[in-house]
Amino acid sequence: MTAADASAPAGATRSGASPAAATQAEPGTDPFVSFTSSDRFATVGEIYEAARRALPPPVWDFLDGGSGGEQTLRANLSSFERWSVLPRLMTGAGEPDLARSFLGIELSMPVMTSPFGADRLLHRDGHLAVARANAKAGVASIVPEAGSYSWEEVTMAAPGAARIAQLHPMGNPANFAAMLRRAADLGFSALCLTLDCPTAGWRERNMRNRFDVDVDVDVVSGNYPHAGPADLADTLGQLFVRREPIWTWDELAGRMAGSPLPWLAKGILTGADAVAAARAGAAGILVSNHGGRQLDAVPAALDQLPEIVAALGGRVPVALDSGVRRGGDVVKALALGADVVVIGRAAAMALAAGGEEGVGRLLELFREEISTTVKLLGATGVDGLTSEMITSAAGRAVPGW
Ligand SMILES: Cc1cc2nc3c(=O)[nH]c(=O)nc-3n(C[C@H](O)[C@H](O)[C@H](O)COP(=O)(O)O)c2cc1C
Repeated sequence: MTAADASAPAGATRSGASPAAATQAEPGTDPFVSFTSSDRFATVGEIYEAARRALPPPVWDFLDGGSGGEQTLRANLSSFERWSVLPRLMTGAGEPDLARSFLGIELSMPVMTSPFGADRLLHRDGHLAVARANAKAGVASIVPEAGSYSWEEVTMAAPGAARIAQLHPMGNPANFAAMLRRAADLGFSALCLTLDCPTAGWRERNMRNRFDVDVDVDVVSGNYPHAGPADLADTLGQLFVRREPIWTWDELAGRMAGSPLPWLAKGILTGADAVAAARAGAAGILVSNHGGRQLDAVPAALDQLPEIVAALGGRVPVALDSGVRRGGDVVKALALGADVVVIGRAAAMALAAGGEEGVGRLLELFREEISTTVKLLGATGVDGLTSEMITSAAGRAVPGW
């Protein structure tokens, strides 16, 4: 490990503004090099670097960091490096088809953005900018309950992209029921229930920085304005001070029975919980460890994906998040059985780096890398990615972008 690696925060170990950039010839001085791109960000790594420069260090740590000793945060990143892909040669495949439908939502590629709360800490336009960029790219936003902007504001910013509303299954049941109605009335296509967050994780970087996103802070109260009918402490307050028991699958099933919208169970890490969620009525499973921000020392989400896909036996569609940092990662998750991939920090960092334009550029880079990877694998499109194209044979312990 180099000195530069050692000083980099754990979550950024696969980032990397190209060191080669420093040694490139000046444009026009080398007849064998053409500089064709005027894009502000040439790689995802450059977007990460720009986000790090844009954010105050405690906010960067809040975004980049994980929980506990960050074992899971590191595992999420290194697991993508342990899986290798196996191409098929001379297949005659043409331009790949990347489109995918998920829970009735048509996506131009199998990517959605995750519900990350406190978004105005990262950029003044928060999820408004994410939704606008998603609408242009033909992908969907999962819009957070604990966001800086209300579901209404994000929907108005880009109705075509704001398609899934995220909720925490906790707090006052009357408020929960009202939120289910609110999501349906706003025209959301689905709900996403975050099941792995009955209380906030043990975030040591925030503790070291004396940094707290508390119920009093308005960056999380977009859906619960201070003068509004619902008391924030009675709803999201549970995230900060746990007062009630965690709901059971039966309670969850009962409370969801009144919703006309299909729902996605977020935070699933075992086949048994995937089956329990499906029995409770989930229309989709989001395999996730919350990006290593909740319970530390759980396995990488990607490593749990095959067990969960096998347990569900194709009866329920599967999404994955946690550790996805580039288009090639999306392809690996699809080959291991995910129907769609959800990006958290990658989208959040792009937001911090350049607002709507930053997220738009990130999605462009994801799309181009997915397309290139699918072509090089010899597949006709994302539907042609299979488990025969992926192996866990190679093992590099330390990832690098
Ligand atoms: C700054 C930040 C805030 C988040 N807030 C929420 C939230 O309010 N609700 C939720 O379900 N997940 C939240 N998450 C987790 C993401 O939805 C997602 O599961 C995670 O970021 C995926 O891992 P990745 O960042 O490695 O892609 C948050 C993540 C980040 C980075």
